[in-house]
Formats: sequence, C-alpha cells, structure tokens
Amino acid sequence: MAYLIGVDIGTSGTKTVLFDEAGRTVADALYEYPLYQPKAGWAEQDPIDWWVATYESISDVIAKSGVNPDDIKGVGLSGQMHGLVMLDAAGNVLRRSIIWCDQRTSEECAEITELVGKEKLIEITANPALTGFTASKIMWVKKHEPEIFEKCRKILLPKDYIRYMLTGEFATEVSDASGMQLLDVPARNWSRYVLDKLGIDIGMLGKVYESCEVTGQITESAAKLTGLRPGTPVVGGAGDQAASAVGCGIVREGVASVTIGTSGVVFAHTDSIKIDPLGRVHTFCHAVPGAWHVMGVTQGAGLSFKWMRDNFFAAEKLTAAQTGDDPNYVMDQIAKNSPVGAGGIIYLPYLMGERTPHLDPFARGVFFGLSAIHEKRDLLRAVLEGVVFSLCDCMDILREMGINPTSVYAAGGGGNSKLWRQMLADAFGMSISVSSSKQGGALGVAILAGVGAGVYKSVPEACDAIVSEASRTEPIAENTAKYAKIHKFYKKLYADLREDFAELAKIMES
Ligand code: XUL
Repeated sequence: MAYLIGVDIGTSGTKTVLFDEAGRTVADALYEYPLYQPKAGWAEQDPIDWWVATYESISDVIAKSGVNPDDIKGVGLSGQMHGLVMLDAAGNVLRRSIIWCDQRTSEECAEITELVGKEKLIEITANPALTGFTASKIMWVKKHEPEIFEKCRKILLPKDYIRYMLTGEFATEVSDASGMQLLDVPARNWSRYVLDKLGIDIGMLGKVYESCEVTGQITESAAKLTGLRPGTPVVGGAGDQAASAVGCGIVREGVASVTIGTSGVVFAHTDSIKIDPLGRVHTFCHAVPGAWHVMGVTQGAGLSFKWMRDNFFAAEKLTAAQTGDDPNYVMDQIAKNSPVGAGGIIYLPYLMGERTPHLDPFARGVFFGLSAIHEKRDLLRAVLEGVVFSLCDCMDILREMGINPTSVYAAGGGGNSKLWRQMLADAFGMSISVSSSKQGGALGVAILAGVGAGVYKSVPEACDAIVSEASRTEPIAENTAKYAKIHKFYKKLYADLREDFAELAKIMES
C-alpha cells in the first residue's frame, strides 16, 4: 500500500495528515502557533514557528501510524497564501512574515498601480493591487525597512519556505504564486514586465512549477527531523484555497466551494481564464494543470466567529471543555435560539478590512440595530449571518461573471457547523453539500503528491476515486426570502458607512 502526506501550513496552526492511497486518514496532528498584531490591521507570524510545527507534526503522524517511511511516496504542501518570507544569503529568515490578512500597504498598492498601470496590472496579474498580496508587502519592506531589503536574497511564500527547509530548493507553484501579484496568470510564469516596473530581481523568486510536479526531495537533515525517508519527493502543492478545493473535488466547471476558515472563500473552477474587470474577485491558476479558478474572499469569516467566541463566550467555552463537548457545537446551539435575522441585528464582518466585494482596507466590523431586547445569542447569530451575507456578495459577483455553479460544497472549520450550512443554503437559495473527507487542504495536496509520484493518473481522476458527497442541506424557502431582504439592507449599510470608515482610520492615525 502507498501512503501520502499532506501538510497544511495555516494561520492558526499546521495540520499534517498521513493518508493511504484510497484517501483514508491514517494519522493526523495539529500544532498551533501565535499570530502577532503589532498594530491594528497588521498581522505577522514567525516562519520558524511554521517550520517547527511542520517537522514535529510530520514526525508525529509517522510515529503514530507505524507506517514504514519507505511506503510514503510523496509529500504535498498547502499554505496560507500571500505571506512574505525574506531570507538572507545564508538562508536565514530576516524578519517575521507579513501575512495574508495584513492591511498596512494601501500606499504601496497605489504606487504599484501607478508604476504598472491599472489595466495592465489586471491584464497580467488578473487582479488589481491589493493590500493582502505579496508584491505590496515587498514594496513596504523596501520603503520602511531598507536595511532588511538590502540583505534579502530570496523571497518565498509560507509553504515555499517550508519546501526550502525540507528540500533545500527555492521553488513555488502556480496557484500560490498567483497571489503574489508578480505572476503572469494567463501565461502561468513570472511576469518580467511587472518585476521590472517594481524593481524586484527575478533571481529572488523561486522556480515556478505546476502544482503536481515534483519540486525536490527530502534532504538528510530534514529526514532526521521528520522521520521521512531521505529522497522522498515533495510536489508543488497549492495555496490553501486551491488545495482545499482539490480536497473537495472542485476540479471541474459547474462545481464550487464555500470555505469558512479564518477567511471565507467562494471558489469556482474554470477551464478558461475569466477576469472580473473591476477586480472584486481573484482569478488565480488552479492546482489542476492548465485550469484557473475564480474566488471571492471575505477577510473575517471564521475570524469573526473566533473573536466573538473568545471575547464573549469564554464561560461557555470553559464549560464545554469541562463537559467534553465541542465548544463550536455548543455555540451553534446558542445561536439557534435566536430567530432568522437575529432579531434585527446586522453584523458587518470587516474586522480585518475587506477584499470581496469592497477592496477596502479601512472597513471595520459593525453591529447595527441593537436594542435592549437583544441577548448575547442574537449577537452570535448576527455574526454567523453577517459572514454568510459577505459570502453571498462573493457568489453574486461570480454569477455576474457568468459562473453559475450547480453544485456547492461547504468546507473549512465553519463548514462543519450544521447551522452555518443551513444559513448558507437559505441565503444562496441552493443546496449545500459536504464532501466525504474533512481533511480539505491536506487531502488536496496529498492528492497532488500522489499524481506527482505516479500513484494516480490525474487530479480529476484521483478526486473521482477518493472524494464523494457525504450529505446535503436543502434551502428553506421562507428563510431564503427573508435573507434576500436583509442582504439588500446589509449591502446598503456598508455603502452608507464607507466614508466613515476611512475618516475613522485618519482620526486614529493622527
Ligand atoms: C486567499 C487568502 C486566504 C489565506 C489564508 O487569497 O488570503 O485563503 O490564504 O487562509
């Protein structure tokens, strides 16, 4: 029997899963690490934390499973996208990584747009300049920390730093590289034009592979730390969204996913490249060779839920821990006791600014419509519903672009919530499925590793054999009608507040 390992370097932790060739989980391990927020809207992590979590978790799953490392045929890496890792000439990390949800770079985005030209930028990178993306982070370091930029010899994405530590290779792959804003997305390779305009040396970037190609082998030193056999192939892998999509079988047109992780994403596969001229959704290369995907991203999905839980439901979390209940299940039960529409509270989930549909780093979270009648449970329900409305905004843009999925899978931690799935089905007005595997991104990149190592013929074929529909939630017509009205109001609320968010940011800076 062949085995495969998928490593998912996420924002809250790194999850490693050892699968057999039928895609069954043999062992898994999760190692968490901190997120640093030195200022409002800034977000950083220490790449060394990712590396320790990776080798500890790989070593853990191999030890727990008792599988012979010779039978592990490949490793796939999935990772939080857009993060900036800078290395010096000796391969040492120069500063903490500025990660995907950091919003400090609005000035640099304006500069990038000026240097490359708005239309040219969308034509080449398939996206407008965005604060979350890597290019603006590089420009920020160049301007604000020139002594660090001076020493920088290599620029890597989070999972590609882990690849470097595992294999010694500087490489990336098309799906994650699409989120750097330095890739020619239609051509699936670095854009010399954009790099020249931004003054970034192409030699700083890794070689670009397709996601299932082998990019290197486990070195002797990485083998000692992980327990893997030296020489085990490591494939390109994928950015976390493309990886999770492969793990849910989103590898053909007509199928989409809604992932509620820290961020929330509506993701659809496309065989030909489709770009929103207004840049409200991202078009990236898919992990399926020769395909692309379009995705809308809301920044504060699971993040809003976690913020609510940790700040206002600490007692419930503690009780759940004492009784052995899942705290998220307990939270679902509380929110269920509030009516559809949360008794008139509307929540805007913009705790970390917003990408789709507003592209607004200054947007902030809002509870609107509070009255003395409301209880904590209404606030909680409003948070869940606000995230769903934001995901509706993403789906609406996909539909506007002529992408009309007939089948939608819920994924990520939030996808496990029955209540959240019902809200999604109601608000989208369509059924929401769940796939047979809960391992999402880790399974996705293990499948890619299997294709690279010759265990499977192709990504779609492997998905057909491994991934199936486990359950389906149908919409309730009455709720769909109510949510349509509230969603309209929710959109108006942001429009009314847009200028106030920018003004507040100025006040806070002064
Ligand atoms: C995608 C994105 C998130 C992060 C963190 O564009 O920013 O998926 O990768 O999950």
